[in-house]
Amino acid sequence: MADKIKVLVILCLLILFLSYSFYLYKLNYSSVHSATTLADKGKILWQTKNCGACHQIYGLGGYLGPDLTNIYSSKGDEHIKAFLHAGTDIMPTFNLSDSEVTEIVAYLKSIDATGVAAPSKLKIKQDGSIER
Ligand code: HEC
Repeated sequence: MADKIKVLVILCLLILFLSYSFYLYKLNYSSVHSATTLADKGKILWQTKNCGACHQIYGLGGYLGPDLTNIYSSKGDEHIKAFLHAGTDIMPTFNLSDSEVTEIVAYLKSIDATGVAAPSKLKIKQDGSIER
């Protein structure tokens, strides 16, 4: 009797697993993840323009430029826009349109709202972990 129950449970789990896998496989990801908000569009620009090659978010990314996690609250949107429109000697100009700049600013604003990151101020212990 106990064996029959085990077989039944395994069969149920198998059916659930297969139907959920099938559901995920058939799910239309483009409609689920379509960029609807300005911040979403800005995130896509962040990725396609490869800003992360030089900049970090929460300390992750390239190290040529500064961490931009809290750039929105620390320096404001006009400062960000100026950099994006003009570039610098080291940072390239990306020839972004006004709407693209607005989208990137919205993305950086949304990142800023997630919390505070100041990785350069963290104290790293000898074993590589971070002191709290
Ligand atoms: C080739 C490397 C590089 C790339 C790619 C790059 N940046 Fe920069 N960025 C820099 C550097 C370096 C600085 C610091 C200013 C300087 O010294 O020229 C900077 C500065 C900035 C600043 C001002 C930061 C501050 O603290 O004042 C913002 C905002 C910024 N970048 C946004 C972006 C965005 C958004 C992208 C992608 C569209 C991007 N950057 C791509 C190198 C880069």
